[in-house]
Amino acid sequence: MRSSEGLSLVETDENGVATAFRADVLQGLSEPQKAIPARWFYDDIGSELFEDITRLPEYYPTRAETEILSRHGEEFRQLIGEGRAVVEFGSGSSVKTPLLLDAIAPAAYVPLDIAGDFLRASAETLATKFPDLPVHPVEADFMREVALPAAAAHLPKLGFFPGSTIGNMVARTATDLLRTMRATLGEGSLLLIGMDLIKGPAVLEAAYDDAAGVTARFNLNLAERINRELDGTIPVDALRHVARWNDDFARIEMHLEASRDIAFDVAGRRFAMGEGETIHTENSHKFSRRSATLLLLAGGWTPRARWLDSEGRFSMILADATIPRSAP
Ligand code: AVJ
Repeated sequence: MRSSEGLSLVETDENGVATAFRADVLQGLSEPQKAIPARWFYDDIGSELFEDITRLPEYYPTRAETEILSRHGEEFRQLIGEGRAVVEFGSGSSVKTPLLLDAIAPAAYVPLDIAGDFLRASAETLATKFPDLPVHPVEADFMREVALPAAAAHLPKLGFFPGSTIGNMVARTATDLLRTMRATLGEGSLLLIGMDLIKGPAVLEAAYDDAAGVTARFNLNLAERINRELDGTIPVDALRHVARWNDDFARIEMHLEASRDIAFDVAGRRFAMGEGETIHTENSHKFSRRSATLLLLAGGWTPRARWLDSEGRFSMILADATIPRSAP
């Protein structure tokens, strides 16, 4: 959507339709395994539903990560040190970000987000909580290298990427992002990243298919969003939310499954799904200690410390920018 104040990075056509959304949906529905990138979940309704998800009894990651942040402030401060610029990849949560900032007394806070309105709103809330902390929001796509504001560029940096959002990406994309983060932050930087852990499928599947049906609504909202924004005629009542553990790839997959044969239009194009056919809408990769280490190393980060919540469900890892050296 075009923002009323100033320029938005989200390109829209003459009808205000997000060009990239339409392109991703048309492309994704044309493939043999239909698939739509998970980032399109987060329109206003989807963002609110995600907030509701974080409070569900079955959805442990947010509570587990918040526990880690609130319990280990002392250690964070020792290992990270004061006076860094905290560069958060994403707008920041009203709960997690203050816990970190309180613990490490940074010299500046730089949230990066592609959604400008969201970014400015959460930056303002934060600035009120930390009146002495310089806050420099940057409207940018952090999947690409970002030039940091001059006021933060000369400071030592800590990247902050909570939520296990890295788990939404396949290894190739996750590696690209980690390398891009390293380029954005520079040598001598640290990264504090949340990575959810592999555990029994029952716990994982419940976390992504809760009894109250909130995650189902979150998933189905994507189809509704297509109908709203892309002139779609998807019969949403014929789609069923599915969350299943894929053990080979160590990830929870969310799909929208057709409960009968259906045909529909999106942006003037016709699509069909047979009964049982699915649209793959999200991957949420889970990690072991070693798979997390391997991914970070592949992305140019060397793990230095690791914390788990009291039930051992979720990890936060502090890594430093690997110094490139010659063989071995
Ligand atoms: C926001 C990507 C961390 O994968 O756990 C929650 C999104 N999807 N329930 C996750 C999500 C379904 C969430 N992340």
